[in-house]
Amino acid sequence: MTATAAVLHEFGGPLQIEEIRFDELERHEVRIRVRASGICRSDLTVAATNHGFPVPLLLGHEVSGVVEEVGAGVQGLSVGDHVVGCPVNHCGRCDSCRSGRPFQCSNHGATQRAAGLPARVTSGGSPATQFIGIGGFATHAVLHENLVVRVPAEVPFEIACLLGCGVSTGLGAVLNTARVQHGDSVLVVGCGGVGLNAIQGARLAGARRIIGLDTNDAALDLALQLGATDVVNAREDDPVARVRAANGGEGVSHAFEVIGLPQTLDTALDALRTGGQVYLVGVQKPDAVLGIPFRHFFAQKSVHGVAMGSSIPHLHIPEYADLYLQGRLQLEPLVANRIALHEVNDGFERLRRGGVARSVIVFD
Ligand code: APR
Ligand code: ZN
Ligand code: ZN
Repeated sequence: MTATAAVLHEFGGPLQIEEIRFDELERHEVRIRVRASGICRSDLTVAATNHGFPVPLLLGHEVSGVVEEVGAGVQGLSVGDHVVGCPVNHCGRCDSCRSGRPFQCSNHGATQRAAGLPARVTSGGSPATQFIGIGGFATHAVLHENLVVRVPAEVPFEIACLLGCGVSTGLGAVLNTARVQHGDSVLVVGCGGVGLNAIQGARLAGARRIIGLDTNDAALDLALQLGATDVVNAREDDPVARVRAANGGEGVSHAFEVIGLPQTLDTALDALRTGGQVYLVGVQKPDAVLGIPFRHFFAQKSVHGVAMGSSIPHLHIPEYADLYLQGRLQLEPLVANRIALHEVNDGFERLRRGGVARSVIVFD
């Protein structure tokens, strides 16, 4: 079975549109005809610099589509189902998985093929790597069933794909990881495809103040539209003082860093009140060393690592789909740009230039 994919052969180079080949399905695999695939900043980060993923590399990890074939051992998914791929690679059997924390699975390689089996997918005859188990910049994808979640057919594909990463990560960081409550005050540093969902999570949680911080006024306009009560442009003088002023002169209880820069972690820490919490949603360089002045710990502040918004895919993605269908989660404004697969490098360029919200690759 062949498909057309955007393949990365060289870090820093462009993606190449070419044919890939899938092996026969193993028992727990699912083949999807891809209908939409969002471009997340993590795809660009990984394409730009070597993070240790072997090439040829199939990027794209925010994918929706229709099930075309299921392996003999797959339960609960049928041909024709509308599905979303969610890159929480988890085994379902370890202590973390069994205690409801698949995002902390100690055996996340379990969703890959066992050594000795033929590669699941090849490019030019060489085994290709599916970035975090997905590889969604392609007409088709073969995923382990644990990464495939059925969604109601009423959710348009270009919206559904966002549930797999941008929504799970941003909304989840606020609702699942931080468990923000009504009355809390929330700062979201970076109002892009992920941060705008953190803002919506804070709105759904009933936060009293929701402050968006970004360098881009268009992103801040979207933040206001999606639930921010106040916005601050980080290019203005003393943005931390402006955040505090927007919060009645006090630091915030929760700050979400949704960019992945050491300096915006500093901003988030400075904007906290005593005892406040920072959540690192943005992906930093793997070897980044984050220097934190001790005074923050003396002020009882904490910094938390977050992966995939602590999402339990099969529990939370249907919940987020319901919120969307009920009009409580706004996802249309996040699809800023629809492109074809062969325009994927333009989508990366738009992200590099600082385009607002998501570019989504749509397929016929
Ligand atoms: N200060 C404030 N805002 C900034 C700064 C800065 N120094 N630098 C960038 N931004 C803003 C951009 O203007 C943009 O609105 O951060 C936002 C980032 O959004 P996107 O580029 O859409 O990135 P996104 O896909 O949301 O990912 C954000 O989360 O999952 C991770 O890997 C992902 O680290 C990335 C982060
Ligand atoms: Zn992502
Ligand atoms: Zn596990």
